[in-house]
Amino acid sequence: MLRVCMIGTGYVGLVSGSCLADFGNAVQCVDINEDTIATLNDGGIPIYEPGLKDMVARNVRSGRLAFSTNVGDAVKASDVVFIAVGTPAQEDGATNLTYVFDVAETIAEFLNGYKVVVQKSTVPVGTTREVARRIKAKVSADTEFDVVSNPEFLREGSAVEDFLRPNRVVIGVESDRAEQIMKQVYRPLYLLETPVVLTTLETAELTKHASNAFLATKISFINEIAAICELVGANVDDVAKGMGLDGRIGPKFLHAGVGFGGSCLPKDISSLNHLATSRGYVPHIVRAILELNNGLPDRAVDKLTIELGSIEGKTIGLLGLAFKPNTDDLREAPAIRIVKRLLEEKAAAVRVFDPVAMENFKITGLDVVYCKNAYDVADGCDGLMLVTEWNEFRQLDLPRLKKVMNEAVFVDCRNVYKPDRLEAYGFRYQSFGRGVAET
Ligand code: UGA
Repeated sequence: MLRVCMIGTGYVGLVSGSCLADFGNAVQCVDINEDTIATLNDGGIPIYEPGLKDMVARNVRSGRLAFSTNVGDAVKASDVVFIAVGTPAQEDGATNLTYVFDVAETIAEFLNGYKVVVQKSTVPVGTTREVARRIKAKVSADTEFDVVSNPEFLREGSAVEDFLRPNRVVIGVESDRAEQIMKQVYRPLYLLETPVVLTTLETAELTKHASNAFLATKISFINEIAAICELVGANVDDVAKGMGLDGRIGPKFLHAGVGFGGSCLPKDISSLNHLATSRGYVPHIVRAILELNNGLPDRAVDKLTIELGSIEGKTIGLLGLAFKPNTDDLREAPAIRIVKRLLEEKAAAVRVFDPVAMENFKITGLDVVYCKNAYDVADGCDGLMLVTEWNEFRQLDLPRLKKVMNEAVFVDCRNVYKPDRLEAYGFRYQSFGRGVAET
């Protein structure tokens, strides 16, 4: 049984730590945030992630998972130390690596024998080698350690499942000793014959950024096609279906709408843009993705304006705030830009409901009315925007909704409904990329 120290109990650290405990490792998750550790020690989970609470509880009960604020003791008592701290974006798109490097210094301070230091936070290429340099500079010449880059590919909302049954594991490792230890850490995945890509540190780091940039490219590409569909009377859902059946293209991430958000895709693309630019290369595709995606929330409000003439004095409802369903995460959520624009355009009121993200939305301080459910949102509204495709918004009682609305205008930012169905119920309906052919 390996002893693992997971530094950082944010999204990545908590999911990875508890899943590694489930794999049979003895895991100590540590964080300098005392409130977070106190919550975890009380059986609470600071983030919303399906399946995580049970996973944590089960492994705490089994004695394989513990939480503490004592980073030094946890490092000393471990064979493998994972760095899973935040890597926020700076104004210029570069990644703030302060927390990663601070942790590297702490690890160096408590290095009491050979350990593998694994960089798990998503970082620009070159960071893991820099972590090694910084540790080396602080320890005595005979102190042994290896660094590894092991990027995560978890999706919020299905992170536990993604960790337990990944498409692949990428490990940047440059010593046999560390490679053997990483194989032990992930033993159950080896038994399941999960593909493992063993590579250099830089290649592992870039594989992560390239994967997210490619997913964002697929989304942005279909959103561009959606705009063209509207101009030529074609239907983007069918175009995506027709494209996706080609095995070389694949059907996933071709869902048109108000664009991607979250803490990963936008940040990683900005970071890649910054990295390439700083090395003298203009990353054309990456820049175009950012430009296109940033304009989509405004496009959604423009669609509302087409139906209402003007937003001023109108009451608008938002169904969903989180950047995608099954998460309470609002980072880079299109809903934030949409609400800001509605308020800038002097909407009389913005009524909102999200099953789990409303508490987080309050932090924005934006002047909205928090409602109990979709029908409460719709009450007295001149326009309704479906922004996050939570399951409960997929089967709305449309006559009930229409009855309580002042004007039956519906902007479907995720193409959940079929235009003719909404129109049959008397809604004026707008969505993305469902052009109407001129006959
Ligand atoms: C993404 C990647 O999918 C993960 O593999 C990666 O590990 C993670 O980033 C990360 O770097 O940590 P995540 O941000 O949780 O995961 O969410 P996704 O499911 O990828 O969705 C991203 C955004 O794209 C959402 O706003 C979603 O609504 C949007 N999207 C997705 C579309 O607009 N259309 C689609 O067809 C698919």
